[in-house]
Amino acid sequence: MTTFCYLTDTHFGYTLGEGYSMQPRHPEPVEKVLCGLREWLTENPVDFILHGGDLVEHGNEKLITRFAEKLTSMPCPAYLCLGNHDLDSPDSYELWKEHHMGLLPKNKPNYKLEFDDVNVYVLAVSYAGAPQPYYWETAHIPVISDQQKHDLEQYLAASTKPVILATHVQVNAIPSSQTGLCGEVGEPDCQYQRYLIDLARRFPMLHLIMTGHNHVNTLARFGNLITMTTNAFTETPFDLRVVTIDDKNIEVATHSLRPWIDPQAEFNAEFSWALGGPSQRECTIPVRKAKHDCSCSA
Ligand SMILES: [Fe+2]
Repeated sequence: MTTFCYLTDTHFGYTLGEGYSMQPRHPEPVEKVLCGLREWLTENPVDFILHGGDLVEHGNEKLITRFAEKLTSMPCPAYLCLGNHDLDSPDSYELWKEHHMGLLPKNKPNYKLEFDDVNVYVLAVSYAGAPQPYYWETAHIPVISDQQKHDLEQYLAASTKPVILATHVQVNAIPSSQTGLCGEVGEPDCQYQRYLIDLARRFPMLHLIMTGHNHVNTLARFGNLITMTTNAFTETPFDLRVVTIDDKNIEVATHSLRPWIDPQAEFNAEFSWALGGPSQRECTIPVRKAKHDCSCSA
């Protein structure tokens, strides 16, 4: 069995009252949020932490070095899927390569984590209109290069274990049934969405795509593929996902760390839909066997 915790969009280094958030951000993220996480991990050990991106508010040397060190000092290994805020300067990507402290295995933004029951593939996107890869200048339109597609597809074709793909930008919108608003919110880029959904149809070992970016817990189904977004870990109620994989199922559960971080933390009831209900917070995905897996007795 493999268990990991997924948290995202911490935006460490943020200024209160500025930037995008769905719920009040904690005024003392380093002391309260990271101490609460450490305590929770001691009581609830996992094999590793996967951060879904936007670890920092700005991809400058000061914030990268400070928070790479904080995240890698947790009681288990930690890895990062770079988000747009992590890459908001032309030199951010080079700074990450120099100062990631193990958050990017082999100094790569795209990498695999391989375990007995599951393979996790981490894909950092580029952004439309930027003059170089892995730089988020302004547009939120994610771009997956031909080389990235080639590498990912080769990997999926060869995998005999279920694959979970982590990328920062959402693949599914937030439905009106969740928000109570007219129409969907946060619709993904069509081309990006179409490519990833079609990928799961072509490569059934792709079971789950985990993203952040919109600071909302959502879950969508596209045939056999589940896609989910997760709310920001530094916003009340400090949710993270726990993903447990064995030879039968991938189980996803959502935990609020509010009791460990700050039971009194401010909460805005107007946007309580950002937390999602049971169908956005929990799911069980049956593991599909690879057709070319010789260990299958069928
Ligand atoms: Fe983001």
